[in-house]
Amino acid sequence: MLVCLLMAACSSEPANLRVWTPEDHAHPPDTLIDPNRVPQEERPTLSVGDLLWMRNCARCHGANGRGGREVAINFTAAEWQEGIEDAQIARAIAGGKAPNMPAFADLLTPEQIDELVNHVRKFRGHSPPSRTP
Ligand code: HEC
Repeated sequence: MLVCLLMAACSSEPANLRVWTPEDHAHPPDTLIDPNRVPQEERPTLSVGDLLWMRNCARCHGANGRGGREVAINFTAAEWQEGIEDAQIARAIAGGKAPNMPAFADLLTPEQIDELVNHVRKFRGHSPPSRTP
């Protein structure tokens, strides 16, 4: 008799266990989503010129255009800026520069090179906050 009761207790189904269905995970309908509470993406703060510079030039000329271990030119110096024409800058980028600046004509479009000429000009007189320590 005791055995009988125990077995009955074990086989009884838990009361409210049911199979999960996708509806249990339903999202509220779109009409209930308040767009003002959806986080907005931050506006990008890097320009095309910034990105081209960081990608192609910064490793030699420095993030801030002041040069690096192997490059002595300082693009923030007024004397340097005054001594060079835009066309010369564009030519250096497209064709490279001795001793070891590579030519970028095959890697960059003429528009990108123009963008970089403007970027080099923006270094004049100041340096943007350096992104490298
Ligand atoms: C591998 C290293 C390296 C890279 C990458 C590099 N440069 Fe240079 N760059 C140099 C060297 C070296 C010189 C010549 C330095 C000198 O005359 O003392 C130079 C010179 C220049 C000059 C001066 C040209 C002149 O006629 O006086 C400009 C402008 C310039 N680079 C822009 C750029 C730009 C823009 C990029 C990216 C597209 C770039 N460089 C990428 C190494 C580099």
